[in-house]
Amino acid sequence: MLKVTKAVFPVAGLGTRFLPATKASPKEMLPVVDKPLIQYAVEEAIAAGITELIFVTGRSKRAIEDHFDKSYEIEAELEARGKKALLEVVRNIKPANVDCFYVRQPTALGLGHAVLCAEKLIGENPFAVILADDLLHSKEPVMKQLVDVFNHYHSSVIGVERINRVDSASYGVIEGREWEEDIIKLSGIVEKPQPALAPSNLGVVGRYVFMPGIFTHLRNTRPGSGGEIQLTDAIASLLSVEQVLAYRYYGTRFDCGSKIGYLKATVQLALQHPEVREDFEAYLRECLPALFPAAAVAEQPELIEPF
Ligand code: G1P
Repeated sequence: MLKVTKAVFPVAGLGTRFLPATKASPKEMLPVVDKPLIQYAVEEAIAAGITELIFVTGRSKRAIEDHFDKSYEIEAELEARGKKALLEVVRNIKPANVDCFYVRQPTALGLGHAVLCAEKLIGENPFAVILADDLLHSKEPVMKQLVDVFNHYHSSVIGVERINRVDSASYGVIEGREWEEDIIKLSGIVEKPQPALAPSNLGVVGRYVFMPGIFTHLRNTRPGSGGEIQLTDAIASLLSVEQVLAYRYYGTRFDCGSKIGYLKATVQLALQHPEVREDFEAYLRECLPALFPAAAVAEQPELIEPF
């Protein structure tokens, strides 16, 4: 059986929405509490059984390679100071059975082009694509959920969630019919449609599992939305020859490509972090009424489930 052991992480994007923070360091290295975004994405991949991590990088992204490499200085220092727990944390960033590969995307021609840059490292294997901007929090890692669907149906699978129609121009939006609970057979997909043209209220999140056949379509994809070579357009083309499924995953998505999504992720994950949660909660309780005197707000915000 074809096993999903490879994941592509397109990380060449400029991160202009986070300037000046991202002028000299990658947006994927922005921390949520104490872990960079890319590490959340990598942990999700590893939890899904993936052992080969392929990063499609660009200039100013060296920090990502360094993060997943051994750091002799830090390890020696922690060892000397007897800081065993921290030493484990640092050593486990990349487990021994996992390998990292790096390939450059020389020009920012779009997400589809970024994935195409990984073709030679993927060969004739199924593979995952993970966009680290989308931080997905769930009891069962979302990539694991997608891989399970792939293993069951042996066709490409795209993670989707319900979106507000007014937001459709920020997503790939799918068309199809529900086949089984939470599984949709795709009949169409369109990148960033205006609300009036959106074929449904199901938007693509940054999690995909592809059959290697997608590469043929990526090679033939011309620039689309925003003048970029879009992964979505290649999926639309793949659909004409292969079955593609969409899967409505279980979990909460934080769009960490935007400041507001990033702030929400920080607050929610801080409220679960064993080291800071108590103090942080106490702080919020203390300062919220002062900040928002009318904070007898009627509606309770939705909190994520701890796990
Ligand atoms: C990309 C994809 C889009 C998808 C989104 C999810 O867009 O092109 O189809 O819905 O990721 O985050 P981006 O947000 O990179 O513009």
